Amino acid sequence: MKRTIRDLKNIKDKRVLLRCDFNIPLDKYGDILDDTRIFESLPTIKYLNDQDCKLILCSHLGRPKGYDKYLSLFPVAVYLMKRFPNKVKFCPKVSGKDVTTAVKNLKSGEILLLENLRFDPREEQNDDSFVKELCSIADVYVDDAFGVSHRKHASNYGVALKLPNAIGFLVEKELDVFEKALKNPKRPFVAIFGGAKVKDKLTLINNVLGKADTILIGGGMAYTFLLAKGVNIGKSIVDLDLVDDARDILQKAKEKGTKILLPIDHVTLVGDKVKKAFLMDQDMVGLDIGKDTIKEFKKEIKTAGQILWNGPLGKYEDPRFRKGTYKIAQAVAKSKAYSIVGGGDSVGAINTLGFAKKIDHLSTGGGASMKLMEGKVLPAIEVIDTL
Ligand code: 3PG
Repeated sequence: MKRTIRDLKNIKDKRVLLRCDFNIPLDKYGDILDDTRIFESLPTIKYLNDQDCKLILCSHLGRPKGYDKYLSLFPVAVYLMKRFPNKVKFCPKVSGKDVTTAVKNLKSGEILLLENLRFDPREEQNDDSFVKELCSIADVYVDDAFGVSHRKHASNYGVALKLPNAIGFLVEKELDVFEKALKNPKRPFVAIFGGAKVKDKLTLINNVLGKADTILIGGGMAYTFLLAKGVNIGKSIVDLDLVDDARDILQKAKEKGTKILLPIDHVTLVGDKVKKAFLMDQDMVGLDIGKDTIKEFKKEIKTAGQILWNGPLGKYEDPRFRKGTYKIAQAVAKSKAYSIVGGGDSVGAINTLGFAKKIDHLSTGGGASMKLMEGKVLPAIEVIDTL
């Protein structure tokens, strides 16, 4: 069991470096479009602040190449100032003298947010000199940045190796939910997988085979599976190198007792016209699941005991092909099953439709939750001390 912030004793007056994942969408005016990740970090921030420590928050935002004013964490500081009045300070730098001075001036019970870690290229390189600088401003390290825990960066992996450490409540909850979901699922366990690339999901599907009772597959990746079954997929996206792997999965699923459902009808594009089809013509590109597939998938979702959903069921970025994803989001939200949703577009669909409260666990990590579902180790969590 990983050490959590509950196990940190005597941190009053200590400098605690808390790595968060405040990688949130902002518009060009700096307005926060979705505050889920900050909101989910609040219990850890509040708990540590209540211990009267000197709390230093750090995070990345986006993938900047050097300084980028549109990716400043200042809007997050403003958000936190409203939640913790008169306690929050913002340091517009991430390293150097300004940071050390800001930390020196920090009083117990105050919270300091540093600027975007990725403005310093040493962060992603897990550079020793940056690790040293971060360690020099803290006595204790807490990791609550689940979304980035599949990366070995200076502020998570590097620092955790050098300082006394623990995980925060957000990371604890994410680990707990995924472990229980895969080891002890409520049945029937229905997994829904979508997304364009079959390559990204093969390990995941393999790990869930035999654990899930049913797997529903949609999105671009479904066409590689359909081709593996000898179905005509027209000009739909396909990974020809992986057709054999897809065939293997379909075979293994039978042996392991997992039912796999693939789309039976499609919303397609022919030239610039959107057409519905059961059997695809050679010139059709399948871009969303059709009405009958939605019906079939909804039947499984309705009777599920546990649902795990990752990835859109169609080409989500094009509004003409969002219906499948929306309908599945609606069905998952309505279902009485224990529901877990991870991945940018699936979580996006749930939030856009206002269903967030109807989902038991909306994961704050896309890539990280995939790794967990694949049964892989998250390096930044691996280096946290165990009890
Ligand atoms: C995410 O949004 O998945 C995390 O914040 C990690 O971001 P990254 O993929 O840019 O490392």
